[in-house]
Amino acid sequence: MAVPLLDLKLQYQQIRDEVMKVTEEIYESQMFILGKRVEEFEKDFAEYCHTKYSVGVSSGTDALLIALMVLDLEPGDEVIVPAYSFFATAGVVERLELIPVFVDIEPDSFNIDPTQIESHMSARTKVIIPVHLFGQAAEMDAINAIAARRGAHVIEDAAQAVGAEWDDKRIGSIGRVGAFSFFPSKNLGAFGDAGAVTTDDEALYQKLIDYRVHGMRPKYFHHYVGGNFRIDALQAAILHIKLKYLEDWHRGRQRNADLYRELFAGSDVADRVKLPHALPRRRHIYNQFCIRFPEGRATRDKVLEHLRSKGIGCDIYYPLTLPQQTCFKELPSAKEPFPHSEAAAAESMAIPIFPELTKDQIAEVVREISAGLKS
Ligand SMILES: Cc1ncc(COP(=O)(O)O)c(C=O)c1O
Repeated sequence: MAVPLLDLKLQYQQIRDEVMKVTEEIYESQMFILGKRVEEFEKDFAEYCHTKYSVGVSSGTDALLIALMVLDLEPGDEVIVPAYSFFATAGVVERLELIPVFVDIEPDSFNIDPTQIESHMSARTKVIIPVHLFGQAAEMDAINAIAARRGAHVIEDAAQAVGAEWDDKRIGSIGRVGAFSFFPSKNLGAFGDAGAVTTDDEALYQKLIDYRVHGMRPKYFHHYVGGNFRIDALQAAILHIKLKYLEDWHRGRQRNADLYRELFAGSDVADRVKLPHALPRRRHIYNQFCIRFPEGRATRDKVLEHLRSKGIGCDIYYPLTLPQQTCFKELPSAKEPFPHSEAAAAESMAIPIFPELTKDQIAEVVREISAGLKS
């Protein structure tokens, strides 16, 4: 039985009528950018994230970019980022002529190791960007304590972690700013590109609003050089509909994660597959379910090939660490070893976790992983 890594058509069927209705309304109104639909979504999204404000933007990448832009940084300022993340986390730093400084991840999670942050900071370190990778919060108390001690800002890269929690606090409400992606494959996905920034800081909020439209206030009077980071009304309206279902969809993913744990524990390959650690003090929302093969790259690649031959969806997030990327590898901070990030890149693989998966499909994935390991 083929099992896709993600099947968004099933989710669409649940909300199709609502989406069609709002789409038609927007088409009839011919009001496509910002406006009432965006404001409605921003209000409810801020509430969902337990923040005072949220600002809808054009993508998760632009959410990170605009968050850095409003902090009055100077070229050459340093920004701490994990060595293991999606490219955008460090890409935005480099684009603003800031310097990414890479820090290894923890051996037990895919998140930045807070015990290594301070030794990578200098007088020029102005920002720390923890990433809540795959939907599980980074160690936020330790990170905020370091940032407070050293006078740095914390921007949470919450692109993969909408609704995740750290000690009952929602992700995006813990640092100074949170940056979200609504890329379609995220737990809260738009019908195209979209993102949002969250904050409790009123002054920062006003700046984000201005930067989203070329630093403009009022119309055609520009105080800053911002950009076009606007979100479409249609995306905001669809996200607003989906927000109502999000908790249910999170629960579906958590149920699937529990079933994987149960089935792997009872399988004959239990000691050859490491499942994601659900760490204390956190609510994991499983944007991805990344398993690891401690035997290393050759075993992981063998299983990957087997799964693909059987039509079981799987992928590698991410095959390279950030310091290994061609465009970063000459940076001074890319020269040191990052053993835990390198191990994650060599050993891990994402398997299907989307909420609509059936028990049979999950059992099939486990069966084929076992068969792949023994092939
Ligand atoms: C950790 C992380 N940061 C940033 C982004 C960028 O988001 P977007 O693709 O919406 O620009 C992503 C997207 O996958 C991501 O996973």
